Amino acid sequence: MSAVLKNDRFLRALRREPVDRTPVWLMRQAGRYLPEYRASRKAAGSFLAMAKNPDFACEVTLQPLARFDLDAAILFSDILTIPDAMGLDLYFVEGEGPKFRHPVRDAASIAKLGVPDMETDLRYVMDAVRTIRRELDGRVPLIGFSGSPWTLACYMVEGGGSKDFARIKAMALNDPKALHALLSVNTDAVIAYLAAQRAAGAQALQVFDTWGGVLSPAMYREFSLPYLTRIAQELQRGDGAGRTPLILFGKGNAAYLDELSRSGAEGVGVDWLIELGDAARRTEGRVALQGNLDPTTLYGAPDAIRAQVRHALDSYAHGNGGSRDGHVFNLGHGMSPDMNPDHVGVLVDEVHAYSAR
Ligand code: CP3
Repeated sequence: MSAVLKNDRFLRALRREPVDRTPVWLMRQAGRYLPEYRASRKAAGSFLAMAKNPDFACEVTLQPLARFDLDAAILFSDILTIPDAMGLDLYFVEGEGPKFRHPVRDAASIAKLGVPDMETDLRYVMDAVRTIRRELDGRVPLIGFSGSPWTLACYMVEGGGSKDFARIKAMALNDPKALHALLSVNTDAVIAYLAAQRAAGAQALQVFDTWGGVLSPAMYREFSLPYLTRIAQELQRGDGAGRTPLILFGKGNAAYLDELSRSGAEGVGVDWLIELGDAARRTEGRVALQGNLDPTTLYGAPDAIRAQVRHALDSYAHGNGGSRDGHVFNLGHGMSPDMNPDHVGVLVDEVHAYSAR
């Protein structure tokens, strides 16, 4: 597991150590915007068939690295693997996104949920991590990931995506005890899942709190933040330079950066609704920051993309005492299927060229 990395910029930046260039990777860097991804998906039959087959998962994880000078790979999988393994039975409807055949909507069905066994129920994920580590051969670090307890609960209670989160917010109001029981078992599962990915070879870990930002501040501080903090505190991840960094990404988390930066996580991922410099000032060097271009920047022309990249890099540096260290470049959320792959190359190359020390 301690194989020498040829490019460790990403891990160094998460430790806030000096690097030669700002590292960059993109959320959803493997996906439908790449023709080779669409070909793999066709060969596998479906997204889930691909994610559940370690060889396909490995193939599509590596696809963006063959095209772009990215500084990290991210495991090809999904956040909904945990509830699927808990028995909710995940499926996808073309154009409608993820759905569960057995959503959980009351205390009785929540009480029946248990933490899945990582090396049997979720073995396909750990096998994918092991296969990808072998095939990466130390080129760049591999990121493992999970959904946050709250974001998983959103899908588990709503039964799929949602516009207003009416069911889970009603549960928060009418039966907070049941919701806390759900968040608690999710947290135990997330900790076990991330620990198993780390044991299988993941070199950094990210938690996606995609829907934390739909909560009022008081509800965020009751239903999302404490569980993120428990993960950051309880997840065993080694010491010193060998420590596996944990990144807490959240959409709409700008108001909570002070608390997130004191959670014990090594990195915090932010969306584009805050200037990176402001995020750096608020977190005062306690964590590395990851982000934060609006993903729709990729619809711009190359020169416009370059200008936005330079703005984000300079904003971070201004808020960080003039230093670019401690910054991992990324988008503020995932890429979309209709984006132009060439524009990703423009973004990645500009990050490296403009941030060269
Ligand atoms: O970033 C990466 O490249 C790694 C792979 C990854 C996927 N999903 C692959 C995927 C990661 C990190 C995720 C996380 C994920 N999954 C999140 C959190 C991050 C975020 O975007 O907010 C969420 C909310 C999900 C749930 C989920 N799975 C959604 C909303 C969808 C999209 C449905 C659609 O039709 O657009 C998925 C499916 C999914 N997961 C796809 C990919 C590449 C698209 C599948 C396909 O049709 O090929």
